[in-house]
Amino acid sequence: MALLTWQDKYSVGIKQIDDQHKQLFTMINDLNDAMLVGKGKDALMPILNKLASYCISHFAVEEKLFDTHGYPETADHKEKHYKMNAKVKSLIGDVQSGKSTVSIEVMNFLKNWLDKHIMETDQKYAPYLQSKGVK
Ligand SMILES: [Fe+2]
Ligand SMILES: [Fe+2]
Repeated sequence: MALLTWQDKYSVGIKQIDDQHKQLFTMINDLNDAMLVGKGKDALMPILNKLASYCISHFAVEEKLFDTHGYPETADHKEKHYKMNAKVKSLIGDVQSGKSTVSIEVMNFLKNWLDKHIMETDQKYAPYLQSKGVK
């Protein structure tokens, strides 16, 4: 069963972005499903690799919109993306070096990111970009 379900409250009103955010829900749910059947350890690295490339391409899409439309909070938002990329990289390093195998920690981190970043930071640009006609 899915741990997280997409709800309208997550929407930023821009279809391409919502579709990408839904992919993050899927990654978290996949990890949760794997953990439930005792495969969390096996699933961790593939999901982290997927997450790393997801973050790079998703953040690039958001940042391009910010640059195109002169979003005033661009610098702060880019900084948060930069830190997330660094965090994902360090998680991958921890798993590769055997320092961490704990799927639950990764999962809590991702759930937290989803709540904080999508619900707060990303929501902030929604009205601005919508006012510029992005949808
Ligand atoms: Fe986002
Ligand atoms: Fe973002």
